[in-house]
Amino acid sequence: MKVNEKHYRTVWMEGNSIFMIEQNLLPFEFKIFEAKNYQETCMAIKTMIVRGAGAIGATAGYALAQAALAANPENYLEEINKAKLAIESTRPTARNLFTATERVYAASLKSPQEAIKEAQCIADEDADTSLAIGQYGNKLIKSGYGIETHCNAGWLAFVDHGTALSPIYQAHQEGKNIFVYVDETRPRNQGAKLTAWELKNENIPHAIIPDNAGAHLMSLGKINLIITGADRIAANGDTANKIGTLEKAIAAKFYGIPFYIAAPRATFDLNCPTGKEIIIEERTQNEVLYQTGMNKQNKQEKILVSAPGSQAINPAFDVTPAELITGIITEKGIIKPTIEEIQKIF
Ligand code: MRU
Repeated sequence: MKVNEKHYRTVWMEGNSIFMIEQNLLPFEFKIFEAKNYQETCMAIKTMIVRGAGAIGATAGYALAQAALAANPENYLEEINKAKLAIESTRPTARNLFTATERVYAASLKSPQEAIKEAQCIADEDADTSLAIGQYGNKLIKSGYGIETHCNAGWLAFVDHGTALSPIYQAHQEGKNIFVYVDETRPRNQGAKLTAWELKNENIPHAIIPDNAGAHLMSLGKINLIITGADRIAANGDTANKIGTLEKAIAAKFYGIPFYIAAPRATFDLNCPTGKEIIIEERTQNEVLYQTGMNKQNKQEKILVSAPGSQAINPAFDVTPAELITGIITEKGIIKPTIEEIQKIF
C-alpha cells in the first residue's frame, strides 16, 4: 500500500535486519523500526510494533531466518531450536505465527539461505493470498452497502492488502459506493487508529463507531454486511478474532445480517478440533486502564482513563462459533465454516 506516494509492505528483510512499520505510533507518526537480531524482532512482536495475524506470521518467519543466519555453525541446531521457542512464546493466538515458524524451521535444517528463501516466500504468499481474498470478497459487496468491520485486518495486519479490508479496497477501486463502519476496538483501538488511517489514506468513506454501537446501527438497517479477520480458525470453523467479534456475530445473527470472516489458509489450524482448544492471549490490564493519544504539544501521551486503583481484565481475543459465521473468504474461494468445506481447500 502507498504512504505518501511510496509503496510499503508492513514488514520486510534487508541484510540481517527486519524492517517494519511501527504500528504503536500510528496514526500520529509514520516510522520504520529496524530489528537487528531475532531477539529484537521478538520484542517487536510482543510489544505490538508489528501486529495482526499475517504480519506477525511473516515477521516470525523472518525472525527465525535471522536466527539461522546469525547461528554459530557449531551449535546451529541448538541455537535454531532456542530461537524457535522464543519466537513462538511472543504471542499465542494467531496461527500464522506458528505456520511460519514451522515452515522456516524445516527450511533452516537445510541451510540459513534456505531459511531466508522460505521466510521471503511466506511474506510474498501473504500479500498474494490477501489480494485473492479481496477478489472473492468483493463479489459480496453491492453498491450502496454499509459494511462494518472490527479491529484492523487491513494491510497493516498483513504484509500487504489485508483480509477484511481487501474486498473493501477492491470494491472502492471498482467505483462501488460503500460506507465503512469502523469499530473503535478497545482497548488498543486498532479500528479507530489503524483501520481508520488506512481508509482515510485511500479516501474510502467511513466513520469510527464506539464498540457498543454496532447492534444499534444494525437495528436501524445501516449495516448490510460485516467482514472481520481471524487469528486462528479451528477445524470445525470456530474462529478466534479480536475481542468483541463474538458480540457482533451474535447481533448480526439476530438481525439477519451476513457475517463473514476473511482469512488465508495459513490461519487455519486443522489440529485444533474446535474453538474451545484455542489459547486466548491475556494482555496487561494497563491497556484497559490507560489510553494513549496525541496531546496539544503534538506528543503521544498515555493517560489514566479509569477509576484509580480499580483492576481490569484484558482478554485479547474471543471465539465466534461456526454457526454464527455465514462464510469464510479465503484465497481459494468463499466456503461455509464446516469441517467438510474446510478440508476441501487443503
Ligand atoms: O492483537 P492484534 O492487533 O495482533 O490482533 C489481531 C488482529 O488484528 C485482529 O484480531 C484481526 O481482526 C485479525 S488478524 C488480521
